[in-house]
Amino acid sequence: MKHFLSLKDYEKSELLEMLSLAHIVKSDLKSGKATTALAGKSLAMIFEKSSTRTRVSFEIGAAQLGMRPIFLSSRDIQLGRGEPMKDTARVISRMADMVMIRTFAHSRLEEFAAYSSAPVINGLSDDFHPAQLMADYMTMQELGYDDRAVVAWVGDGNNVANSWLMLASKMGFELRIATPEGYEIAPKWVELAKGFAQKSGAKLYFYRDPIDAVKGAGVVATDVWTSMGQEAENEKRIKDFAGFGVNSELLSFADSKAIALHCLPAHRGEEITDEVFEANADSIFLEAENRLHAQKGVMLWLERHNRS
Ligand code: CP
Ligand code: NVA
Repeated sequence: MKHFLSLKDYEKSELLEMLSLAHIVKSDLKSGKATTALAGKSLAMIFEKSSTRTRVSFEIGAAQLGMRPIFLSSRDIQLGRGEPMKDTARVISRMADMVMIRTFAHSRLEEFAAYSSAPVINGLSDDFHPAQLMADYMTMQELGYDDRAVVAWVGDGNNVANSWLMLASKMGFELRIATPEGYEIAPKWVELAKGFAQKSGAKLYFYRDPIDAVKGAGVVATDVWTSMGQEAENEKRIKDFAGFGVNSELLSFADSKAIALHCLPAHRGEEITDEVFEANADSIFLEAENRLHAQKGVMLWLERHNRS
């Protein structure tokens, strides 16, 4: 059973196949041709955390493919009252053809997948957000960036940063990460990515000073300083991340045509200024829209590769 839990589990060629499906369904949709290849199938979507983009893009994307999506908030299902993940997996996967989960510990997702008879898609865990990064890469492709791109990450070494590291190390582009002290990417992911980079030729650099990361970069990406589940640390994080906001002064060190990306939701005045955000609204909202198309590519790929 092929799941979609992290980009680390996929070869570059497989990720490119998913993206190529994504580009096809996007252009079909824009030209009014529906791709209902998954008609009659169902997608169960379990959310243990809030969401706007992931919920809407999976729900609408699945429906566009002909599927029936079912939104399941952990507040409303027995999972939220302590029913084990492994039991939930064995029940839901007997009924749904595919399952998307947004959860806390990545191990919860892995446990679900281990007991699931249907493919499982990560809709964000504490460690990874691969569906987001498929949309980010699709956006880079559309805006003309290739594997010679230089991407800077400024901010927290969080789930989205981990996923950028996996993406860069698989695809082979240069990624420069600047994080404050104490918020670095976990060494186990750095080591893993360095291993992938040996094969792909990716260049991975880790800095303390955001200017070092941004110098000459074509893409500057960031995300919130306080992720879901870390709300109690918010005040401390705002202090610890001082100097890590993406503002126009920092961007002046990047390539003159550089774009900013943000997975959203954004906290203006913290990780990004309103000025930079609005100046980059075209790329940021293209990135958000591409969640819809990229995830349709992932679902189509999973269905094809799990067909018995
Ligand atoms: N970027 C993203 O996953 O957004 P949501 O939390 O709104 O789903
Ligand atoms: N790092 C953020 C991403 C939100 C899409 C979080 O986990 O809350």
